[in-house]
Amino acid sequence: MRSFDFTPLLAAGLPPPAVKWSGFAKYNFVGGHNDPDHVPVDQLLKAATDVLKREGSTLATYGLASGPQGYRPLREFLVAKLERTAGISCRTDEILITSGSLQALDLVNGILLERGDTVIVEQATYQGALTRLQRLGVKAIGIPLDAEGMRLDALAAALDDLKRRAIRPKYIYTIPTVQNPTGTILSEARRRDMLRLAAQHGVAIFEDDCYADLIWDGQRPPALYAMSPQGGVIHIGSFSKSIAPALRVGYIVAEWGLLARMLALKTDAGSGALEQMVLGEFCAAHFSEHVPRLTRGLRAKLETLMEALAEQFGTAAEFDEPKGGIFLWVKLPDSVDTQALYTRALAAGLAINPGAEWSTDKDFGKSRTRLCFANPSHETIRAGVGALAEICRREFGVPQRIANVQQRAGV
Ligand SMILES: Cc1ncc(COP(=O)(O)O)c(C=O)c1O
Repeated sequence: MRSFDFTPLLAAGLPPPAVKWSGFAKYNFVGGHNDPDHVPVDQLLKAATDVLKREGSTLATYGLASGPQGYRPLREFLVAKLERTAGISCRTDEILITSGSLQALDLVNGILLERGDTVIVEQATYQGALTRLQRLGVKAIGIPLDAEGMRLDALAAALDDLKRRAIRPKYIYTIPTVQNPTGTILSEARRRDMLRLAAQHGVAIFEDDCYADLIWDGQRPPALYAMSPQGGVIHIGSFSKSIAPALRVGYIVAEWGLLARMLALKTDAGSGALEQMVLGEFCAAHFSEHVPRLTRGLRAKLETLMEALAEQFGTAAEFDEPKGGIFLWVKLPDSVDTQALYTRALAAGLAINPGAEWSTDKDFGKSRTRLCFANPSHETIRAGVGALAEICRREFGVPQRIANVQQRAGV
């Protein structure tokens, strides 16, 4: 029986304690999980064997033989890949490998933000970014999105308003290429306008491109980083969405002077070496054929989800088709509070992300929900949406009829 009480010793200002994990929900539409059928297990196995046989003894040193910025062949792969896909031209010493892009968020925030600062974000954005800002005591101003991503008229108005109030935001955090949660892609023209506005106002851009490989038609505008040779942009990315999130490998692209400040904050003596080695080996040989296969599988799951929603919810579920990625951002009728729906659904083994957690404007998010379609099977997606419609109808009276199902059943 433990009698020592740590409670009075706990540091002030800690976030609320974590809830113990009790397994995934049966119908799991939350988080950014990937498709289990598309983890390239055999190729990863071979990559691990090959690279360990060849270079395993370098595990004897911190940072392998590559130094603190991460496994050099992986950075070399990224240099070529970012040039090919995003138009970024950078050197290996302008890349820092991180423990997932979440560590990248922490490092960028760590060198730029102080309590009381202001930043600009998309009105609907990544919860992990919002909770970090909240914890740091930083005010996040949300800019509405439309089908082409962040609305630049609203961004211009927000920047003008801040200027009038003598507030200089530290950065514009944007997920321009397959936005989380809306799945939009910021057009090249808007990228140009965003860079112009940011430069005019002396504001940095923090570009989070972690879904950029998962585009249905493979077409993407150049990265903001690539379009700004004069600097002012920090770019981050991840292997979580293109390969597997459990690997925990992400990266930052920035000028060396900034990376040098981040390295001084990265006190973990290097991110996991084995993952980096395996990825370096795997990606050089297989990345470009793996990603289209994964993307085709994701696209098929999105079709299943959209069909199931149309069948079960009819017009009560509104959504724009995402341009890629793993999420569908769904608007339910105003009478539905997705936070309450989340609680009821979870009790029935069904997990959804309530929209308020993904929004700077809680009212805007209240009747919205984010559904991740990558992890569940097609059958689970269909059954899960059916279960969600039942719960939603019981709790909120919508959808009024589960029309097609009733018609098919001859009711
Ligand atoms: C926009 C965005 N950025 C960063 C992350 C963090 O991902 P990871 O740390 O796995 O690279 C996520 C995860 O879902 C995300 O959606």
